[in-house]
Amino acid sequence: MESLVSESSMPATPVQGHSLVIRGGRPLSGTVDVKGAKNLATKAMVAALLGDSASVLRDVPDISDVWVVRSLLEAHGVRVDAVEDGALRLDPSGAVSAHMEEIDAHAGASRIPILFCGPLLHLLGQAFIPDLGGCRIGDRPIDFHLDALRAFGAVVEKLPTGIRLSAPGGLRGANIELPYPSVGATEQVLLTAVRAQGTTELRNAAIEPEIMDLIGVLQKMGAIISYEPNRVVFIEGVDRLSGYDHRCIFDRNEAASWACAALATDGDIFVGGAKQQEMLTFLNVYRKAGGVFDIAEDGIRFRRGPELKPVVVETDVHPGFMTDWQQPLIVALTQARGTSVVHETVYENRLGFTRALVQMGADIVVHPQGIDAPGRRVPRRKLEQAAVINGPTPLHGADVQVPDLRGGYSYVIAALAAEGESTVRNIDIIRRGYARFLDKLTALGADFDVLG
Ligand code: EPZ
Repeated sequence: MESLVSESSMPATPVQGHSLVIRGGRPLSGTVDVKGAKNLATKAMVAALLGDSASVLRDVPDISDVWVVRSLLEAHGVRVDAVEDGALRLDPSGAVSAHMEEIDAHAGASRIPILFCGPLLHLLGQAFIPDLGGCRIGDRPIDFHLDALRAFGAVVEKLPTGIRLSAPGGLRGANIELPYPSVGATEQVLLTAVRAQGTTELRNAAIEPEIMDLIGVLQKMGAIISYEPNRVVFIEGVDRLSGYDHRCIFDRNEAASWACAALATDGDIFVGGAKQQEMLTFLNVYRKAGGVFDIAEDGIRFRRGPELKPVVVETDVHPGFMTDWQQPLIVALTQARGTSVVHETVYENRLGFTRALVQMGADIVVHPQGIDAPGRRVPRRKLEQAAVINGPTPLHGADVQVPDLRGGYSYVIAALAAEGESTVRNIDIIRRGYARFLDKLTALGADFDVLG
């Protein structure tokens, strides 16, 4: 079982082992606290490279994706120190080109390295980016990223183990229209445009809350970024940026995951740190599925109502139903009386995880070409798939292997909802996005042993 980052760079907490033996049939109840968003914290850490002074990032989650970015920054001479509970101080003043073998060591561990391109080109005039990793939920191309970097004037050279970039004439503002509101490609443009010479106009931009929080980080550094309602973003390049002091937005994907765990196990979970505004669409679907939620000042309480109900969901870019939310939701839908449909329109292979749920007794049919349905609102994409879930079907224990981050989380809650004992293997992948995962399961009353 490969570890995602070298153990030496991991936090002092014990390695959480490679498999869980879970005894199901018990509701999850209690409180979990959600820290900063995985999909913001890692990008804000990269943004620190652009500053000419140190930055402080607060509420940084203790997850392996953060450790991958930390060690990549340190390989480039950035000093990263833990300064207080959950905060990092990042000082780029010693930044230098890294040795290829040091960068290569992180090849395949995450998708974040691709976002180093712009900052390293501004800082050093060159960059080598290793082949990317990330969840196997599709082929995860980076064509939008490379097209955008070329538009800024970068020269991109593909190598056997990654890509080498240079910017002989510096980077100039560009007019870029994304073929799809890609989160990563939008971040690529933002992190490159803020220090480019001249103005950049980005059309069809992603506008997820994590993107807006990254814009907040960059504005704190001195960037000039404005956006219009129709996904158009304008960035005026500036000569210098300072460090920032920023508290990460909460992780709405983790919050939604625990909400689905309460639904699936008929539990009652208070998610500290969760906020309503960034979860509006999720809360609508949660209520339609028979969930009950109470919004408090410091979090949201989630539990199952009198009965679970089938729903039809189309995943989409923000403000739609996030693709990251469908996997844990599907586990709960296996217990709803009736037929649910999930149209996965963002990735071409994010429903493969359902095979293990069928092994546990679920009735799920995946349509690899997707299905047309009356009243659909999300534009049909060639790559989309659909899952039809009939319930309720009792779930029984099984021996399953974690396929990806959210799929792995979903297997654990399925095992907790099932009768009998399950073995869930390869659980280190879950540490990519869920801090102190096993501690939280224990706090919620889960009955499990760790193997490995
Ligand atoms: C980010 O991935 C998140 N990851 C994903 O979360 C999330 O599911 C996704 O955005 C959508 O919200 C991080 O932020 C680290 P995209 P990203 O570029 O940026 C296609 C999780 O579970 N595309 O918005 O890689 C792509 O294939 C993870 O936390 C291209 O074709 O997603 C996909 O079909 C999973 N060419 C669509 O766009 C490109 O160059 C959306 O991808 C880039 C993307």
